Amino acid sequence: MQIEPIKAKSEQLFRELVTKLRAIFAARPGDSTQTEPIKAKIERLFRELITQLRAIHVDHLERKWIAISIIIIAFMVGVITVDALFHGVNPPSKVETIDSASLHLSKEFAEENLGVQVDGKGNVVVRMVAGRYSFFPKHIDVPAETAITFRWVSMDVLHGVHIPMTNMSTMIVPGYVAEITTTFPKPGEYPLLCNEYCGLGHNHMWSNISVVAKEDWTAKANAPSPAPATK
Ligand code: CUA
Repeated sequence: MQIEPIKAKSEQLFRELVTKLRAIFAARPGDSTQTEPIKAKIERLFRELITQLRAIHVDHLERKWIAISIIIIAFMVGVITVDALFHGVNPPSKVETIDSASLHLSKEFAEENLGVQVDGKGNVVVRMVAGRYSFFPKHIDVPAETAITFRWVSMDVLHGVHIPMTNMSTMIVPGYVAEITTTFPKPGEYPLLCNEYCGLGHNHMWSNISVVAKEDWTAKANAPSPAPATK
């Protein structure tokens, strides 16, 4: 007996279903064929489909693989759910909105406020603006082994930011503030790359970050600061 492959058979069934559904919706209300209510018709169609699908012969080995792939998918969805509910893994934005067109007029993201700052509680906060095609400021120094809170905004389109070999990576969606707190364990020079396609200059969109040893950085921060933060 020639067994039809499952894929071909199920494709054929779905094509038939679509044709029948189209016929149902194309029929005019006054049509003589339209005696049965639409809902009943659709229900009957789906019942028929299920019966036909059940009738398809599935090899036991194939059945096994179908089960294995469903288990893998269920496992992955489970991991994501557990992470989201118990490990706080979720999108970085706290749905904090901002007007992208007037960033330069905003208190927080005005030009003199960008870059690295230490707030009243001693937390290191970095504010940066992404725009085609760079991150501003172009270069920043941050201390190693210190929690750093990055606050990102976009002044035009969707960008992403990624610092290779660290866990610093987020989308920067126009209209929203993306906030991430992270720690860089090792001093060094890191590039800061855009990882969302944002236009012709996308692959030239980058900036630099120097992670300096904690002791050296404190010294630097105590030197006369370039511009006092005005609020
Ligand atoms: Cu910005 Cu790609």
